Amino acid sequence: MKIVSVIGARPQFIKAAAVSRVLRATAGLEEILVHTGQHYDQNMSDIFFSQLHIPEPDYNLEVGSGSHAYQTGMMLQGIEDVLLKEKPAWTLVYGDTNSTVAGALAATKLHIPVAHVEAGLRSFNRMMPEEINRIITDRISDLLFAPTLTAINNLKHEGLEAQTVFSGDVMYDSVLYYREMIVSGGDKYRTPGLPPAYHLATIHRAENTDHPENLKNIFLAFSRIGSPVVLPVHPRTARLLNTQINIPSNVILIEPVGYLQMLWLTMHANKVLTDSGGLQKEAYFLGRQCITMRTETEWVETLHDNWNIVTGPDPDKIVLAVNSALPHAPQRQDFGDGKSAGIIAENLLKSR
Ligand code: UD1
Ligand code: UDP
Repeated sequence: MKIVSVIGARPQFIKAAAVSRVLRATAGLEEILVHTGQHYDQNMSDIFFSQLHIPEPDYNLEVGSGSHAYQTGMMLQGIEDVLLKEKPAWTLVYGDTNSTVAGALAATKLHIPVAHVEAGLRSFNRMMPEEINRIITDRISDLLFAPTLTAINNLKHEGLEAQTVFSGDVMYDSVLYYREMIVSGGDKYRTPGLPPAYHLATIHRAENTDHPENLKNIFLAFSRIGSPVVLPVHPRTARLLNTQINIPSNVILIEPVGYLQMLWLTMHANKVLTDSGGLQKEAYFLGRQCITMRTETEWVETLHDNWNIVTGPDPDKIVLAVNSALPHAPQRQDFGDGKSAGIIAENLLKSR
């Protein structure tokens, strides 16, 4: 059975690494990989393919950056050509980026069934481009792989229960797969030149980067924290830091790092401050308290016992959260058992 997987942005490389490994080891499944080219810098794309042994894409559409309409439109055209040529039994899409919605839309218009990994996530905030991408993708998909029970309930409320399967979270598969390697690797994945004690931060979401006030408030919070804040800078944010923000002296800007370096940085951080979806979960899986600099989170399972504190870009709330007590209760097993990729492969095969 032929499956075309469509990926294009950093978090999708990480999710696809876990799933591709299993798909390609499953008798009866053949995977064709399409990279839309949404992310293209060496440290936003190639590094993940080489580090995580993701097979070379069969097609790279090289769409690059642009407005939502431009990017999605170019992807639609390119993906349609691939699907017409390959005629797969399934198209597999991940998460909530423009590459996700383009893959789902191109396939469904050609009557090719779509399977969505990380289905059912909702922020209930339609100002987020990701929320629109998720709603559309789930609505037109034939198989919805939900990572959490909350995601299942969201899909139920939208009348999509019949297509839904609880898979657990493929990012949990990935953390379990690599965690031991990082622990036993000692300093192998350590980023040189950083202080031994630090908070780890990332910022890239439109709600923070497209609103200079929000970005300024986040950096004001960082300056008030005082102790080192290590910030691997997403290229979207890099453009703004050069022009709009005075970088406080305790903030250490570094280039985006590879996934294994990122897991190392997360494991050794005092606290994690982020607007990323994936990093909120990794902090939780790796036992680090997370401060989410957004006004809501889709990953509500991480909120218990202050494992994840949602502050928005409010400097007072961010500083308060950084100074708050660490969680006492252990994390819960709400994201599956680390075998999500197997459940996905099994269900695709079963659909024959
Ligand atoms: C996209 C996703 C977002 C996801 C994020 C993961 C959408 C709508 N957004 O946001 O959900 O959380 O990826 O990181 O799909 N750029 C480069 N080099 C690159 C990639 C991007 O310089 O390799 C710069 C370009 O200036 C570009 C900007 O970053 O315009 C934004 O990139 P884009 O892919 O449009 O959105 P992200 O913010 O990365
Ligand atoms: N990540 C990484 N290097 C970095 C920053 C993030 O490997 O410099 C990883 C991070 O560990 C997580 C994923 O990228 O697995 C999250 O992607 P991102 O924050 O770009 O997107 P989101 O999850 O918000 O969609």
